[in-house]
Amino acid sequence: MIPCQRSLFSIPSDVVYLNTAYMSPLMTSVVDAVNYGAKLKATPWDITISDFFENSELARNLFADIVNVSSKNIALVPSASYGLETAAKNLRVGNGRSVVILENQFPSHVYPWQRLVKETGGKLIKVKEKQDRNLTELVLEFIDEKCAIVAVPNVLWTKGLILDLILISQRCKEVGAALVLDLTQSLGAMNTDLGKIDPDFAVIAAYKWMMSPYSTGYLYVNERHWNGEPLEGNWISRQDGKNFSNLINYTDHYEDGAVRFDVGERANFALLPGAIKALKQIEEWGVKNIEATLRKNNSTLAARLCSLGLSVPSECSRGPHFIGAKLPPTFKGDILDVLSRKKIYVSERGGVLRITPHLWNSATDFDRLIDILSKHI
Ligand SMILES: Cc1ncc(COP(=O)(O)O)c(C=O)c1O
Repeated sequence: MIPCQRSLFSIPSDVVYLNTAYMSPLMTSVVDAVNYGAKLKATPWDITISDFFENSELARNLFADIVNVSSKNIALVPSASYGLETAAKNLRVGNGRSVVILENQFPSHVYPWQRLVKETGGKLIKVKEKQDRNLTELVLEFIDEKCAIVAVPNVLWTKGLILDLILISQRCKEVGAALVLDLTQSLGAMNTDLGKIDPDFAVIAAYKWMMSPYSTGYLYVNERHWNGEPLEGNWISRQDGKNFSNLINYTDHYEDGAVRFDVGERANFALLPGAIKALKQIEEWGVKNIEATLRKNNSTLAARLCSLGLSVPSECSRGPHFIGAKLPPTFKGDILDVLSRKKIYVSERGGVLRITPHLWNSATDFDRLIDILSKHI
């Protein structure tokens, strides 16, 4: 169990921030690193050619270690939508075939598939939740020989319902379907072995559970797609890209691996040092320890919420870091307003109170939430 890490952040003592699924606060060390990086651009004569390459490689390596794959599988992207568009650009559906997604999935993981079926034929299947049915089983029912792509998250962003990606991946392989994952709401808080899951593509926007600056993210690309088409005609990922005086000798050849899918200007001098600091801290805590700590805190909190009359999905059907609590049907007020007046911050998504604490939260934070809820529900 990791003790409360609030001292690493600058969260005022009267704020109860329980909204990682919206975005994490930045650690002070991350803000310092971003400031240092931003200042570098004030004196461009101090920027060296290796500044264009070294931090990118370091971020790639640190992230690859966390998800147990080679850094060659990792591209640097600014958003989940960028990575998911890259995946869609490199896959086909075709008439009579399908893309399987979840109903109410995050839009960045829906629009590319809507476009793809429009352009290449086929249909989009949205798997609906059913009460008392496991979401993984429901998805598996739609993965058959007609399925071209399964495009799902690990944890649904509204309620935190969880999918078993190993089982889904096995079934995809049996029927020859591609697997594309949006892990934005789980990586960093759930131990994830992409080497074992072996998806085609997996993306993460890192500003939530990876505690990184906004506009940083990572795209895992399986070896099967290393010869694919990037979104941009980027120069820095081509062979001999380090040779700045020779860039007009244009080439179609890229460096090996997923690097060709990097966003343009990936050597983001301001944001990358911050992303690296966050990755190092996550590595130091250990994702398994983060997961165990959040699981324990959330299971106590979920029991307290249930005793107030809110309903929370069972522990085996939700992410260990994620509580989607449905208010009792009798409650009619604006609970977000009530809570935010007391400086308690959560989200509401699709009629569900989304409570997503992290290591900066203490027992006092949980007590304050329960106290206010108990007075208003
Ligand atoms: C599941 C999920 N994916 C992705 C994102 C962010 O997407 P993007 O990076 O395209 O803005 C969010 C933000 O809430 C999310 O919940």
